[in-house]
Amino acid sequence: MEINSIGILGAGTMGGGIAQVVAQAGFKVAILDLSEALVKGGVEKIEKTLSRSVEKGKLSSKEKEDILQRIKPSIHIEDLKDSELIIEAVFEDLELKTNLFKRMDTLCPPETIFASNTSTLSITQMAAKVSRSQSFLGLHFFNPVPVMRLVEVIPGLQTSPDTVDLGMNFVKTIKKVPVVARDCPGFLVNRIFMPYAGEAMLAAQEGTASPVEIDEAVKKIGFPMGPLALNDLVGIDVGVHTFPIMYEAYGERFPVPLLFERLFKAGRLGAKSGKGIYVNGEVDEEFVEIARKIQNETGVRSPEFSADRLILRQVNEAIYCLQEEIATAEDIDRAMVLGTGFPSDEKGVGGPLHWADEKGLDWVLDRLNHFKNTLGTRFWPHFLLNRYVAAGYLGKKTRRGFFEY
Ligand code: 3HC
Repeated sequence: MEINSIGILGAGTMGGGIAQVVAQAGFKVAILDLSEALVKGGVEKIEKTLSRSVEKGKLSSKEKEDILQRIKPSIHIEDLKDSELIIEAVFEDLELKTNLFKRMDTLCPPETIFASNTSTLSITQMAAKVSRSQSFLGLHFFNPVPVMRLVEVIPGLQTSPDTVDLGMNFVKTIKKVPVVARDCPGFLVNRIFMPYAGEAMLAAQEGTASPVEIDEAVKKIGFPMGPLALNDLVGIDVGVHTFPIMYEAYGERFPVPLLFERLFKAGRLGAKSGKGIYVNGEVDEEFVEIARKIQNETGVRSPEFSADRLILRQVNEAIYCLQEEIATAEDIDRAMVLGTGFPSDEKGVGGPLHWADEKGLDWVLDRLNHFKNTLGTRFWPHFLLNRYVAAGYLGKKTRRGFFEY
């Protein structure tokens, strides 16, 4: 089936970003939101990003106009009915998403492909609600969409191989890199990224290190930005919706940091509301007060801060993903590099499993046990790590760990 036009449900940060990227790749796009104001806001953001590219000489004014011409804003769901591919990017609410898909199911011809950009919800569960379950898949983009090269392609249990192929080809057509991940809560990247982003929130609410110290410590290791600045970029509201879903799925290994909800209640949604953890790149008194209140309530104030505790939570979850065959070791690391900027060498080789191999798996095991004893059982080392160490597969220094050297 040939795809010429795309319908996007939701003109927020992700929907707008996806609309920009597909329009830049030459597709016609109809983008829908609830009100004129919301959809206009989404298109204005696209226009602003494109104008910056024109200023930098990366795009001509004519190209910018052509891209914008291809984007049709709408508040009527019927306007999307002739799109060959529908990508849903509304906020993380299963009922909202499934109701939209059910409505599209009645409007679109049977061959139209449905995709969800959900971060954490089950593709299989959503696909079960429509008549075209075999033509339903996950296409998960990363923020900022125009910059991050990865798109996860997630088949549900019912998704046909043809639909997966179509998804893979579509992602390549829009000049992104597809990685197939199994349908599990958080899929591949968010499953590994969220323990890290959540650990940064726990450290920030404990107050042992300031947000700036936490972010700087991580940047020193080579990450493009700190996890707290990233939580602001992605949106505190997104965290409020997604962290409980992960806790529900995985239990105590994914505690929900109180800080998300407290910031949300204070109207601090991150970049989209002008303040979140940071206000103009700085920490203000209101944030310090929110964190102090959490410390008083929970009595938790950790004795030390080390960026290792953040990265090790990524490593441990990456091992779970490896063992559950959510993706191969190569794809796990590639996805973390392309989707979140995990440090890599000049050939793009890096990621949590390479990082662990480089550090030594015996060291990783010791450090996880240390944090398990000092910070809690969320650091409980995956049993596979014990096996690797017992076998003498210690990583680069023994020429064998998660990879061979
Ligand atoms: N929208 C569009 N373009 C943007 C942008 C945005 N919000 N932010 C930055 N850019 C562009 C800039 O214009 C610049 O473009 P150019 O190369 O054409 O000049 C390029 O990105 C680099 O930007 P900067 O030089 O200003 O800054 P950096 O080099 O620090 O890059 C960054 C910014 C790309 C955001 C980088 O810090 C990064 O990779 N951060 C990690 C992002 C990440 O982890 N995302 C995943 C989050 S998890 C997620 O999205 C899952 C979801 O389910 C919630």
